Amino acid sequence: MKVKVYCYAKINLTLDVGAKRKDGYHDINTVMQSISLCDKVVINTNDTGKITLSCNVDSVPCDGHNIAYKCAQAFYNRYDTTCGGVHIHIEKSIPMQAGLAGGSADGAGVLAALNAMYGEPFSQNELEEIGAAVGSDIPFCVRGGTAKGEGRGTVLTNLENIPDCFFVLVKPPVGISTPEAYQKTDERKVIPPGATEKMEKNLHSLELIGRYLRNDFEDALANEELLSLKKRLLSFGGTLGAVMTGSGSVVYALFENKEYAEACAREMRCAYDRVYLVQPVNVGTSVYYVEK
Ligand code: C5P
Repeated sequence: MKVKVYCYAKINLTLDVGAKRKDGYHDINTVMQSISLCDKVVINTNDTGKITLSCNVDSVPCDGHNIAYKCAQAFYNRYDTTCGGVHIHIEKSIPMQAGLAGGSADGAGVLAALNAMYGEPFSQNELEEIGAAVGSDIPFCVRGGTAKGEGRGTVLTNLENIPDCFFVLVKPPVGISTPEAYQKTDERKVIPPGATEKMEKNLHSLELIGRYLRNDFEDALANEELLSLKKRLLSFGGTLGAVMTGSGSVVYALFENKEYAEACAREMRCAYDRVYLVQPVNVGTSVYYVEK
């Protein structure tokens, strides 16, 4: 049997980081949005009795450290069946160490693909639960669309779809480790007031979304390169706002107008190798091919 699935990246429209908890995680408040940039995951069954993995990008670990592998393992544990054997192939387009939840998207894709393969034994909520045990971003990647994340990011509330728009994403060479970024927020003397509440009330208006874009990691990291990239994005005609996503290092700008977004992407490609012009989507994964 063969299943193919698209796994969509996410961006944070807001990301308020609160205090560190006893379990080592931080409480966050965030509005997350799925975007059209996606990886492709292909799962083939075989009779090896094992989970194996391959990827078109050499630097991706193809062992038990990979989130996609962990999700497959978690699926079989919960399904309470031994895996007859599956090979997972990941075709990556989402950059890594970018704040786009690329690994989590692949994990969510594996959960969706296996669920399709076995005749949907789990509801979406159950898949989110299985995913949450593997990583904080996976429940949102299972659900997709526009949602608020609370707790360590796994307590989700659906929000209205945002209006049609364009995002220009720029991935600078610097990569940022998520645990280190969270650690930096612990050095703050005061926790700044959150932006998520304002954002979730104003999702009907692109102008207001642009105004309330905010990410606490920007101040905590205080990375000159990223701050100047943001400034540059804000200087383009038609930019409604710009902000870093997740713990970075992608910084993106929001546009209502396609021509302005294309002009920005064209210009940024002169300076950066990885520039993506994307749109919001209202799913986290989509299974597009099943062969019995
Ligand atoms: O859940 P996930 O494996 O994606 O988290 C990676 C690391 O990021 C955690 O080990 C923790 O250090 C940090 N983290 C955090 N608070 C969150 C999410 C992640 O401190 N809400």
